[in-house]
Amino acid sequence: MENKETVFNTEIDKLIDSMDLTQEPPAKEPERQYWFMKKARQLVQEKEKELGRPLRACTVTFGCQMNSRDSEKLAGVLERIGYVETEDENADFVIYNTCTVRENANQRVYGRLGYLHSLKKKNPHMMIALCGCMMQEPQVVEKLKKSYSFVNLIFGTHNIYKFAELVVSALLSDRMVIDIWKDTDKIVEDLPVERKYPFKSGVNIMFGCNNFCSYCIVPYVRGRERSRNPRDIIREIERLVADGVVEVMLLGQNVNSYGKNLEEPMTFAQLLQEVEKIEGLTRIRFMTSHPKDLSDELIEVMKNSRKICRHIHLPLQSGSSRILKLMNRRYDKEKYLDLVRKIREAMPDISLTTDIIVGFPGETEEDFLETMDVVEKVRYDSAFTFIYSKRTGTPAAVMEDQVPEDVVKDRFDRLLKKVQEIGREMSSRDTGTVQEVLVEEQNSQDPHLVTGRLSNNLLVHFPGDVSLIGQLCKVELLECKGFYYMGRKVG
Ligand code: SAH
Ligand code: SF4
Ligand code: F3S
Repeated sequence: MENKETVFNTEIDKLIDSMDLTQEPPAKEPERQYWFMKKARQLVQEKEKELGRPLRACTVTFGCQMNSRDSEKLAGVLERIGYVETEDENADFVIYNTCTVRENANQRVYGRLGYLHSLKKKNPHMMIALCGCMMQEPQVVEKLKKSYSFVNLIFGTHNIYKFAELVVSALLSDRMVIDIWKDTDKIVEDLPVERKYPFKSGVNIMFGCNNFCSYCIVPYVRGRERSRNPRDIIREIERLVADGVVEVMLLGQNVNSYGKNLEEPMTFAQLLQEVEKIEGLTRIRFMTSHPKDLSDELIEVMKNSRKICRHIHLPLQSGSSRILKLMNRRYDKEKYLDLVRKIREAMPDISLTTDIIVGFPGETEEDFLETMDVVEKVRYDSAFTFIYSKRTGTPAAVMEDQVPEDVVKDRFDRLLKKVQEIGREMSSRDTGTVQEVLVEEQNSQDPHLVTGRLSNNLLVHFPGDVSLIGQLCKVELLECKGFYYMGRKVG
């Protein structure tokens, strides 16, 4: 893949080059990591000589946008230390950035580790690393130590910034290197990043979560909420824009509580206004909004903005006030519907999407019908529906009345049918209009088509060539095919 964030990475390369390996590694970050990147480079070069070919690294991401952004940071380090990026897991360094939000996320990782083991048997110097949310769970690490001893490196979410240092330890050790921290209050800036797309990028504005929804493992594996300094966020976005980015997605588990713990507190709406001022940036998205903290100020700022996209992901989880209380979501059905009404009044063209959990402990048919009722009232453009998954260590895991599997499955199917039906109708409402789209890629099935994204997050396919990628075009939406459009470029 082409080298992105080149200006920034070239600057970092110079700093790495200037490190003196005859001295002890610096104590200060990020300089310490630059030193280890230089050291790792040396080790990689030695290996290359020995094998007579370049070394390849593959980063595999599970989970949410936060993890995707973290993986770009991992890839940034691997690239700086001399690995060639590949999507093929038959590589010299493979790292899985894991997710543990639901049990099936964990199962996928174990399954694929079996496959990696078979590859490692053929390529014995292959390095296998695991990081991310799943590694923050002690029982996972125990299991890996016992049954997956071929893994070389395990670390967690809080010390990802010292990836270079950990790679050096793993390359120099013939045993499994494990480094997991319980929590951190640290945010390390100015580490390299290898972006997946040249024209758009995620930008972390905060880390961790303080909400402790009773079903959710995230606060336990991502630690306490920490907001990045607004100046660092703006500087990062300015740098991205200078490097060709036109769209950013501001990332946090609950972006609406951004800034509360800063020395000079600032609201998310205020941050958005600062981001809006950045010249050359044309689109701003954000994820995720917790309904309990979505302010009138934010609605007002969105309404008056030219850059903030017309889309809010507003996880409902359940439509039953009783279940919402058990979930510790701190809003009820009425408050949620009221919020949706306010948003729609201010921005009638807004697209709303959501997350819903089916089968939370104690959920009755009546509770479920409340969820169906909210779905019918709000009319989401799309919804991610999940079957409740018991996460050890969360309060919900020990709640009584876990709902039987067949009942959950039946509710899940009914809900899915409903959200799809409504989603189809809602998605088609712009048929015949001309909209601005950001072209993202060549269509994988038909090379004469390109695929772009509307402000409301829907995709449109239209005739065009690869030179349009990364550009904003005006496209007439000719026909809606369920959850995407076919269109025609008009400017
Ligand atoms: N911070 C975001 C959600 C992050 S997790 C928010 O509060 O909205 C993404 C989604 O996974 C959640 O919205 C929820 O719907 C789902 N999820 C989280 N824990 C789950 C569990 N134990 N079982 C099933 N789904 C879960
Ligand atoms: Fe999990 Fe709730 Fe935090 Fe979202 S807000 S990450 S659902 S605890
Ligand atoms: Fe999964 Fe961690 Fe994100 S548990 S959903 S990758 S914060």
